[in-house]
Amino acid sequence: MPATVIVGLQWGDEGKGKTTDFLAEQVAMVVRYQGGDNAGHTVVTGDEVFKLHLVPSGVLYPHITSVIGTGVVVNPATLITELDMLSGRGIDVSRVRVSRSAHVIMPYHVALDRANEARLAGSKVGTTGRGIGPAYGDRAWRIGLRMEDLLDREVLRTRISQVIPDKNLLLGNMGAEAFSVDALVDQAAAWGDRLAAHIDDATWLVQAALARGEHVLLEGAQGTLLDLDHGSYPYVTSSNPVAGGACTGGGIGPLQVDEVMGVMKAYATRVGSGPFPTELTDAIGLGIAERGHEVGTTTGRPRRVGWFDAVPLRYAVAVNSVSSIMLNKLDILSGLPTLRLGVGYEVDGRRLDHWPSSAQAIERAVPIYEDFPGWEEPIHAVRSLADLPENARRYLTALEDLAGVPIVLVSVGPERTQTIERAWRPMRHRSGVALS
Ligand code: IMP
Repeated sequence: MPATVIVGLQWGDEGKGKTTDFLAEQVAMVVRYQGGDNAGHTVVTGDEVFKLHLVPSGVLYPHITSVIGTGVVVNPATLITELDMLSGRGIDVSRVRVSRSAHVIMPYHVALDRANEARLAGSKVGTTGRGIGPAYGDRAWRIGLRMEDLLDREVLRTRISQVIPDKNLLLGNMGAEAFSVDALVDQAAAWGDRLAAHIDDATWLVQAALARGEHVLLEGAQGTLLDLDHGSYPYVTSSNPVAGGACTGGGIGPLQVDEVMGVMKAYATRVGSGPFPTELTDAIGLGIAERGHEVGTTTGRPRRVGWFDAVPLRYAVAVNSVSSIMLNKLDILSGLPTLRLGVGYEVDGRRLDHWPSSAQAIERAVPIYEDFPGWEEPIHAVRSLADLPENARRYLTALEDLAGVPIVLVSVGPERTQTIERAWRPMRHRSGVALS
């Protein structure tokens, strides 16, 4: 029963879309397990660029069933737009499935998210404004709508009527416009009509695939440091991107996971507010941002850029039980004379080697760096580790040593083929890992 979890080891935007797309050839099913249309995956195949927010990137392969799992919050309008865009470009979307139990992001969730951020002003989280927090909030408060509810007008009317007075009161207090029950019911029922053929029992789909011995890929959105429980609260998203989230959000048990592949970039980025100890606000940072096209796929906001930070890396490897790593965007560092690698922090005059759980401590952390000589030459055409410049290999080995986990895939460009692959075996099948 091979199941592989793909998890972001930084603040999201590590290039998980490329990882999933690269592995997709070998799998029968790709499952998104959390988040919503706050995520953005850019997949490049030949001359084609696909930007996806909700539909797993496996949809680009005709043999794959793409599942939007129970742990995802779904904005039906975004999903419909994405399905139409894909069909319009000749992609078969008939195998896209969305969990009956996934919660719906309603228009009032989006309005509440935006109004709340405006109210927080200087201390805002910097959300994507997609209604993620309010939708997960309603789920926890048991007043949310689920995808299956879109198929029943009666249920819709009852549940929407129950929540709208409070939502409108709150929105009114924040200076935002009210919603009408009738309009929302009509809108939601229309979504249900359009999506009926895709709404399914996702957990059983996943379990049946595993029982048939098919390889299932569970694709996380965002990253470990944005995790509601394990990130720097409150500057986090409202779901669990960590590998454990694949179990709850994908409907599998921990022992069904065969491999946890962590994905990270050769440097760090972060979108939105919150502490970022190795952040670069100088010309070096700007240069990396420019070469790496570091602009949010969902919001178009410029991403904050920094040196790679191994302190949260060790934490991410631990909380996700990462068994292998894909390193993305190594090519973007070509041309820098020196690379800095964060290996520890100084907080209030004391050295700290582990990621502190307190956001305030992270805020005060001054990084301790190890410096590495850079390399001049472009590496886009390199396809084996042996052909990388010596300094690039040294940097990679340092990252691998700090992670304590093998780096098995290295991306040197946006295309599928621009990937260095080392031979590796999933953790269950390892006895003395042989890496070429
Ligand atoms: P929310 O998920 O829209 O509520 O935003 C919460 C925080 O997570 C903000 O800092 C966002 O910038 C960040 N965030 C959400 N989705 C992504 C993503 O896909 N990539 C990077 N950051 C994200």
